Amino acid sequence: MATWSKAPLIIAAIFLLSSAGVAHGRSRRFVSSHDEPCMEMRLYLHDILYDYSNSTSNSTSAAATKPTALATAVPSSGGTFFGEVVVFNDPMTEGKALPPSLEETEVRAQGLYLYNSKEAFNAWFAFSIVFNSTARRGTLNLMGADIIAEKTRDISVVGGTGDFFMARGVATLRTDTFEGFTYFRLQMDIKLYECYV
Ligand SMILES: *[C@@H]1O[C@H](CO)[C@@H](O)[C@H](O)[C@H]1NC(C)=O
Ligand SMILES: *[C@@H]1O[C@H](CO)[C@@H](O)[C@H](O)[C@H]1NC(C)=O
Ligand SMILES: *[C@@H]1O[C@H](CO)[C@@H](O)[C@H](O)[C@H]1NC(C)=O
Repeated sequence: MATWSKAPLIIAAIFLLSSAGVAHGRSRRFVSSHDEPCMEMRLYLHDILYDYSNSTSNSTSAAATKPTALATAVPSSGGTFFGEVVVFNDPMTEGKALPPSLEETEVRAQGLYLYNSKEAFNAWFAFSIVFNSTARRGTLNLMGADIIAEKTRDISVVGGTGDFFMARGVATLRTDTFEGFTYFRLQMDIKLYECYV
C-alpha cells in the first residue's frame, strides 16, 4: 500500500523537473500572452545569390530549380520566376553590415524560398534561424507568404527548439536593400508571444 501512495508524488516531481529546466539546465517560466511579446529581437538576413559569375565563396544561396515554362509563357509576366526554388544558408547579423565571414556567424537562416505567383513577383519562405552562441542556442522555425510588393509583411514563427523551446510568434519582414537579383538584405523584427523566459 505504501508504495502505491508514493507513486503520484513521484510522477508529480518528474513532471515538475521536466517542465522547468528546459535548456542549459536553467529553470525557466513559460509565458504566453497575445498582447505583450515575451521576447523581441531585430536581425538582418543577407542573401547573396550565386549568379554564375560572382565568387562561389561569396554566395550564400542558389537556385535549385529553374523557373517553370509557365513563368515565361504568361504574357504579363515580366519574369516572375514562377516555380523557381532557392535554397539558402544565409548569415544573420544584429547590424546592417555584412559579417567578416559569410560562412561563420552565430546566427544563420537556413531553408528555402520559392516564387509562387505567375502574375507578380512573389515569394514563399520556409526556414530555420539557427542560433549558435554562448548567449543563445537553438532554433526558431518560420514560414509564410512574402508579398514582396508590400512594404512590410508578417510571417509566422511556428515553433522553436533549445532556448526557444515551444516558441511561437510573428516576424515582420522589410526589404532593407537589394541590388538586382544577387543581393538582398531583409530586416526581420521577431516578436514571440509564447516563450520560456
Ligand atoms: C568576396 O568577399 C570578400 C570579403 O567578404 C571580398 O574581399 C571579395 O572581393 C569578394 N569577392 C567577390 C568576387 O565579390
Ligand atoms: C557552433 O559554434 C562553435 C563555436 O564557435 C563551433 O565550433 C561549432 O562548429 C558551431 N556549430 C554549428 C552547427 O555551427
Ligand atoms: C558579388 O556580389 C557582391 C554582393 O552583391 C557584390 O558586392 C560584388 O561586387 C559581386 N562581385 C562580383 C565580381 O560580381
